[in-house]
Amino acid sequence: MLDTPPRPYAIDTATARAQADPRNSAFFQNPYAFYDALHASNPAFYWDEYGHWCFAGFKDVSALLRDKRFGRQILHVATREELGLPEPKAHTAHFDLTEKYSLLTLEPPAHTRLRTLVNRAFVSRHVEQLRPRIVRLANEMIDGFEGENSVDLIKSFAAPIPAIVIAEMLGLPAEMAPQLLNWSNRMVAMYMFGVSEETEHDANRASYDFMEYLRGVIAERRKAPREDLLTHMITAEHQGSVLSDDEVMSTAILLLNAGHEATVHTTGNGVKSILQSGLDPASLLATEEQTAATVEECLRFDAPLHMFTRYALGDIEYEGLQFKKGDVIGLMLGAANRDPSRFANANAFDPFRTDGANVSFGAGIHFCIGAPLARIELQVAFGELFKRLPKLRLAEEPRYNNVYHFHGLERLMVSW
Ligand code: HEM
Repeated sequence: MLDTPPRPYAIDTATARAQADPRNSAFFQNPYAFYDALHASNPAFYWDEYGHWCFAGFKDVSALLRDKRFGRQILHVATREELGLPEPKAHTAHFDLTEKYSLLTLEPPAHTRLRTLVNRAFVSRHVEQLRPRIVRLANEMIDGFEGENSVDLIKSFAAPIPAIVIAEMLGLPAEMAPQLLNWSNRMVAMYMFGVSEETEHDANRASYDFMEYLRGVIAERRKAPREDLLTHMITAEHQGSVLSDDEVMSTAILLLNAGHEATVHTTGNGVKSILQSGLDPASLLATEEQTAATVEECLRFDAPLHMFTRYALGDIEYEGLQFKKGDVIGLMLGAANRDPSRFANANAFDPFRTDGANVSFGAGIHFCIGAPLARIELQVAFGELFKRLPKLRLAEEPRYNNVYHFHGLERLMVSW
């Protein structure tokens, strides 16, 4: 008889407490077994390893993302002392500076001002103009490996396209893309559960180098403005104020990092979902509408970002749970997308489903500013890939990276 491996999670249904180690490979390779169990018993639960309440149900995640009583920042309404938070670490000062003015760590009114200044560049009608460039890039990538027998699709296709697109939007040369990816990957390692000091030092060095590089480019643009997003950010005014260099750097780094990580992962996860579904890719990508629907289903079925947190901005009651000012809650996007009370047959990959939007791009004031761009990148990536390589197949079982929040593949070996 075969031994069944132990479950990588435990749930005490009576107290709504759960244990699941985010660094356990059995867990992060397939967090959906845990989510299924939560949906069946405790969609709101206390996650011991994180030490805070989490929400897996679609209704709660969607409502809490929009709930103004919770925010991504807390230090605008309380001091570190008051909350018992440790002082910032000296050896992560450069990394912290990149986050200081990040849209993702600001709340209104600072958030509104910054978001208004960059939003225009990301609206659908503007990014739609990039589609032909993205088609060319996708084809160049395929030209680059088509002669081989097999390839790691993450490295040779999924990663370079969004990195080059966002770099060019900002006005940085495409040749910088590998270096930007390197800095970004080292910074994103900070979001791992239980970060080591070595990782912190490395992320700090990457942040320093990234900022020094951007400082140089910003100085060049001040002397010789161009038609690019960096120049726009330096010169744009909102109610009489312009952005400081630190604000421009923070925003550029956020756009470069957020602008590719999740798209790379969704490309990999999506190709895997399509290939493992046994469905005919040609029928999933037959028309523009169906391609868009397939992209949405890829985002829902295997979301690239599984948890975002919020702080309670005051003493709050939510659905019978009491939160004190400064308490953290976890909103589980990847789990909400598999909620059987929201999606019929939630664990089935079905690009023909019609039961509505997922929460992979978030909701509320921090809703992903890059969603229209990411959708175009994904539509083009899947469309061109399966058109050029209709016999695409998996060459080995794909495995996910050891970063639970960023649910993406280590590599994706395929043949054709
Ligand atoms: C499939 C690809 C993507 C996914 C799934 C995704 C997902 C998300 C999510 C869930 C949030 C909100 C986080 C929260 O509420 O705490 C967010 C915010 C953000 N995303 Fe994306 N993203 C993607 C691609 C992009 C791209 C291509 C860009 C830029 C070019 C981008 C830029 C941003 C920015 C700047 C924010 C912060 C917005 C704010 O705080 O106001 N993202 N994204």
